[in-house]
Amino acid sequence: MPGLLSSPVCLTVIWFLSWSLCSSRAQIWTDEVSGVQYGRLDSNVTLACGKSPIRIPVVWHLNHNSALPWHKVTTDGSLVLLHVDHSAQGNYSCYDYQGRLLHSVKLRLGHPPGLLSISCQVPNHTHVRCSWVESVRTFLPAKYNASLRNGQEWRPCIVDVTHKHCDVDHPAFWQTTHILRITEINVLGSQTTIVRFRLHELLKPDPPESVLAKELEGYPQRLMVSWNFPSSWPLQNAFPLVFHIRYRPLGSMYWSEIYSEDSHVVVHDALAGNPHQVQVRARDEVNAESQWSEWSPLLLVHPWEDYSTSEPSEDKFTDYMFPFNTKPETSTAKSHNPVVEDEGNLGLVILLVLFSVVILTTVLSLIFVVWVRQRRRDHVSKQELTSMVKMKSMSI
Ligand SMILES: *[C@@H]1O[C@H](CO)[C@@H](O)[C@H](O)[C@H]1NC(C)=O
Ligand SMILES: *[C@@H]1O[C@H](CO)[C@@H](O)[C@H](O)[C@H]1NC(C)=O
Ligand SMILES: *[C@@H]1O[C@H](CO)[C@@H](O)[C@H](O)[C@H]1NC(C)=O
Ligand SMILES: *[C@@H]1O[C@H](CO)[C@@H](O)[C@H](O)[C@H]1NC(C)=O
Repeated sequence: MPGLLSSPVCLTVIWFLSWSLCSSRAQIWTDEVSGVQYGRLDSNVTLACGKSPIRIPVVWHLNHNSALPWHKVTTDGSLVLLHVDHSAQGNYSCYDYQGRLLHSVKLRLGHPPGLLSISCQVPNHTHVRCSWVESVRTFLPAKYNASLRNGQEWRPCIVDVTHKHCDVDHPAFWQTTHILRITEINVLGSQTTIVRFRLHELLKPDPPESVLAKELEGYPQRLMVSWNFPSSWPLQNAFPLVFHIRYRPLGSMYWSEIYSEDSHVVVHDALAGNPHQVQVRARDEVNAESQWSEWSPLLLVHPWEDYSTSEPSEDKFTDYMFPFNTKPETSTAKSHNPVVEDEGNLGLVILLVLFSVVILTTVLSLIFVVWVRQRRRDHVSKQELTSMVKMKSMSI
């Protein structure tokens, strides 16, 4: 018999029956088998002295002690505990006037389940894990029934009771909205919580792994940073990731950033002679609505330094001239291609030269034009003079 009773099927049936009984009249619930009665905290709980009505006066004890919490005893010998709190829990026994034990029951108190606060993690395209936190502390053991709507059908979300989470493999990823339903059930009642979400918006890879930052020998301004894909992101080719690298000299507020699709980058503008902090995070490259992973743990790395020469080389001098803290933003996105910057400067110089050439030619041609005109005018006035002289001589 005990073997039968402890079998999971039997227990489930008993439990389900009691649960359905409770939903209708939730205040009191007696587990005949284990001798445990459950009641709601802050309510009145009635303990019967056995099944048959008892007319003779009875005495109640709690844990073999006659001191009882606030109560009254009804004419049929039942004990009514008023507005119970945790201190009312324990073993209750009722005795007849001769001191014979008539009945005993263990009282456990708690609350029916409340709504759950649910959050889901999607570390790759084939896995969803939803975890929850209870809004009400029930003080009672609970079961959970969870399912995710995948297209038209509800699929079970496999529950881990101890860790309070459930898992679904291979969900219909690109479906617009997903619905998760979790029902918490205990002996005093049940409560279903429903949440809606979009899996592709929850997609958040785990942080990149095995992140390494190294000096590059001979280059006091360079750092080599490398990492691996998160191990929970196996389909590297089908689902590419984009990586975000940030670094700063130790003590600086301002991060410099690089984005990369490879699993390594070379930093070209480290502050020579200074240790640097480096971090990397990842995101699905295709799905712009997805989320960035958490940052990898902070790494500290020293750029290469030339210890053989005591005098600072020219290279070092330029390093110190690097304008690091000039921008007010906390994070500065910089171009990491110095050639591009040089090209920009060269363009400016060419533009300036061209501009001055144009101005110079304009001025020169203006001067020329003025000079030519002046000459012409001189010529004309000379001619006029000669003709006047001629006319005068003719008239004379
Ligand atoms: C509990 O019993 C007391 C006394 O009989 C009564 O005044 C009170 O309303 C009851 N409380 C509840 C929650 O039933
Ligand atoms: C109640 O009784 C059970 C078994 O009869 C015993 O294991 C338990 O320790 C008792 N509890 C208290 C608080 O006395
Ligand atoms: C638990 O969920 C399954 C499937 O979603 C459903 O068939 C079953 O009735 C549920 N059980 C309870 C107790 O809610
Ligand atoms: C997706 O992530 C889960 C949880 O980290 C992992 O168990 C599973 O193996 C991953 N899927 C694939 C296809 O690697």
